[in-house]
Amino acid sequence: MTRASSYVMATIPALLVLAFFVWFANWIPQTRWEPPEKQEIGSTMTPLQLAKIGQTIVRQRGCLACHTIEPAAGVEGQGRGPNLANIAARRAEGVAGGPNALVDYLVEALYEPGAFLVEGYANIMPVSTRPPAKLGYEETVAVIDYLQSLGGTPSVRVGDVARPASQVAETATATDPVAMLTEFDCETCHSMEQGEVLVGPPFDPALLRRAASERGISAEAYVMESIVDPRAVKPEDFPDVMPDDYGERLTAAQLQTMVVFLLGREPTE
Ligand code: HEC
Ligand code: HEC
Repeated sequence: MTRASSYVMATIPALLVLAFFVWFANWIPQTRWEPPEKQEIGSTMTPLQLAKIGQTIVRQRGCLACHTIEPAAGVEGQGRGPNLANIAARRAEGVAGGPNALVDYLVEALYEPGAFLVEGYANIMPVSTRPPAKLGYEETVAVIDYLQSLGGTPSVRVGDVARPASQVAETATATDPVAMLTEFDCETCHSMEQGEVLVGPPFDPALLRRAASERGISAEAYVMESIVDPRAVKPEDFPDVMPDDYGERLTAAQLQTMVVFLLGREPTE
């Protein structure tokens, strides 16, 4: 072997190592881990579109830390929770002593995992709306469609499935107006004492009626408008800070109760 060729032979490993690092350096940025993006879930999506998103959610939110999806295996897979493959067929009639339809059963399995325990398993599954999965309502619908696709056909759309009790409680619990003032924070900004200004004006029927006639509408319409559309009139003497989402947070019945209450009560001296 000549000197020159042995020199070339000796350099080849070094060149290979160099080539590897060049390749590696180029490879890193493309595979850098990106946090999962929050998926937009539209109310008009079809069950099949939702099922696709549901599949991603199940992968990204830790369900597979416990569950396996192993086709052709029984309920018991290799995980700490049941094998979810074929669950739609297996639970087509729900469960004995619990919900007797697939969707109802899946809703319960997610919102209240302890309500029915699959035989042989402990009550360790976290409620799906809480950490770590923290499924929002639309995400829950998507996950249910995905579970339906495992051995069946996805069928639910946004709105077809009940909201978790915790969310219903936020939108509509109190029927008593005084309880509503607390629940919806009205009392942080509005005093019940005549003449006492907190952030906004005190609740005083006489003031409300006067403001209504200045605006040229009935007292009822004025109070309703003030609650659901506080930006309708630009306040002169107050900051423009009243939340503008009460129209969504209070039910129609609650709004009506509130209007009657605010106009009918005797101002406290
Ligand atoms: C810490 C482990 C754990 C995690 C995380 C978990 N599960 Fe579970 N899951 C279980 C166990 C154990 C059971 C069986 C006991 C029971 O019924 O609660 C179960 C039961 C179920 C069932 C009923 C299965 C059947 O055969 O009837 C469904 C559906 C389900 N889980 C879906 C999910 C989804 C979707 C997620 C993610 C949002 C999830 N689980 C996250 C452990 C877990
Ligand atoms: C963060 C403070 C804040 C909260 C919470 C709040 N408001 Fe207000 N509200 C105001 C302010 C400031 C005004 C006056 C300026 C305006 O009209 O936006 C006002 C105006 C009103 C008016 C018109 C009063 C008048 O004399 O013209 C009504 C009625 C009213 N609020 C009802 C409610 C009710 C009912 C709730 C709870 C469901 C509520 N507000 C929650 C700050 C608040």
